[in-house]
Amino acid sequence: MPNRLSEEDAHSAGTDAAGPLARRRLLMAAGLLPAAALLARPAMAAVRTPEATEGPYYPIPSMRPKDIDNDLVRIQGRNHTAEGTVLMLTGRVLDGNGRPVVGARVEIWQCDARGRYIHTGDFSFKRRDHGFQGFGFDVTDQQGIYAFRTIEPVAYPGRTPHIHVRVIHGGRELTTQFYVAGHPGNGRDRIFRRMSPAEQQAVSMTLRKGRRSLETVVDIRL
Ligand SMILES: [Fe+2]
Repeated sequence: MPNRLSEEDAHSAGTDAAGPLARRRLLMAAGLLPAAALLARPAMAAVRTPEATEGPYYPIPSMRPKDIDNDLVRIQGRNHTAEGTVLMLTGRVLDGNGRPVVGARVEIWQCDARGRYIHTGDFSFKRRDHGFQGFGFDVTDQQGIYAFRTIEPVAYPGRTPHIHVRVIHGGRELTTQFYVAGHPGNGRDRIFRRMSPAEQQAVSMTLRKGRRSLETVVDIRL
């Protein structure tokens, strides 16, 4: 598989003091991440995370904002935050034996609360929410944990709500999509319906109400 990382991206992955790792510590310190609960959970059934198409809106580096950290709700230097319902998305990246994968780059991209992607090929008539980062990445820590602050995904014509996810580690890539568990649109979505029930469960986000936002935990099994 081609490696899509630019040199700049590779450099910033986990090495920048103000980057995702530092940001995650801040989020945890603020009580925004359910880290303890996350680690206390028993290992889930060993269903590999199913692959899914990246779709037409993967933003190549030239389309991304300068700020591509793991907080998609707030863009550095902008006053207003993203529209929509804030969602804390966390989980672990695990190998085939259930062991944490350390140092994996996890990317997410999704449309904003109006249904528009940051991709320059999204010609929908909706105006973009310029407070939403649209793309972000994190690097898994020693326990394999990744974390994002983003928004609850919304539907756009032809698709049930979803978040695109790509994991890059050791020259390998896994591209998938996360869905809202129990969303009525899932049963009509062609990509969702293609999966077995176990695969659907492996990429479904059960949304819980946290103190300040929705929260969900999804493990990724390579
Ligand atoms: Fe999409």
